[in-house]
Amino acid sequence: MHTLNLKQILIPYAQAVEELKLKFKSLRQSFIKNEEYSPIEFVIGRVKKISSIVDKAKRKNIPFELIEEHIEDIAGIRIMCQFEEDINTVIALIRQRHQKDLFVIKERDYITNMKASGYRSYHIIIKYPVQTPTGEKHILAEIQIRTLAMNFWATIEHSLRYKYKQNMPKDIQERLNKAALAAYNLDEEMAQIREEVLKSQKGFTEEANVIGNIFNNIQNLAQTKSSCNMNNIYETFWKLWEENDINKLKEFDKNLTYSLNEK
Ligand code: GTP
Ligand code: MG
Repeated sequence: MHTLNLKQILIPYAQAVEELKLKFKSLRQSFIKNEEYSPIEFVIGRVKKISSIVDKAKRKNIPFELIEEHIEDIAGIRIMCQFEEDINTVIALIRQRHQKDLFVIKERDYITNMKASGYRSYHIIIKYPVQTPTGEKHILAEIQIRTLAMNFWATIEHSLRYKYKQNMPKDIQERLNKAALAAYNLDEEMAQIREEVLKSQKGFTEEANVIGNIFNNIQNLAQTKSSCNMNNIYETFWKLWEENDINKLKEFDKNLTYSLNEK
């Protein structure tokens, strides 16, 4: 009977996960469309399985009526960043939204304070208002923010822990500790070459955007201006592309836009 109710209870949680995923993915898209570096690399989310909710309630002695109040990660969002520094940007973006579309309830910094397991991530517990057929409902959700390296480690550790339950062999535990250190060092190393990576990424997105625009313009020209010599246009494009000069490509794109808008 309780399981049946839980299924009902989970409906707004699924909605919250979908909405939050969309919001953070859109945030990433905004940066990219503005040709800016995105502190968000990718976003995933999930609703906790009923069996895991029941297990956690049992493990923590939480009575059924208090599950929604005391289990904070029924709705879970995970935001992956390339660099540790990006995590701070994402935290600031979330705090900015406090009392707008969400409420920040609690923050747990397992980055400064690594867990004994070797786990590192920044957690923010939020209250998130969901519109349901019977009115607004505020539900708890856990946002985990971590680098790709932290995520790599946590994912593997999680599956091993799941496999071995309480009996993780000592040698595997030791290897995990070593791997945690390796992940930590990787983040440190990446922070040092961040500046370089950022520079090349900016150029890269810029070029990708210009080429995307050129292709759009060429397609529109082919469809709307039968008088255009498409072969000439293609040839010019390939020549410029081979030259790999971003300014010339931009100029070409401008000319295409101009031809398109010509009466
Ligand atoms: P549970 O660990 O789920 O019982 O939650 P908690 O109330 O103890 O909160 P905590 O902040 O410790 O953990 C919340 C979530 O962080 C977990 O559900 C995991 O997703 C993640 N997490 C915490 N510790 C570890 C860890 O040692 N390894 C991995 N892989 N994930 C962890
Ligand atoms: Mg825990």
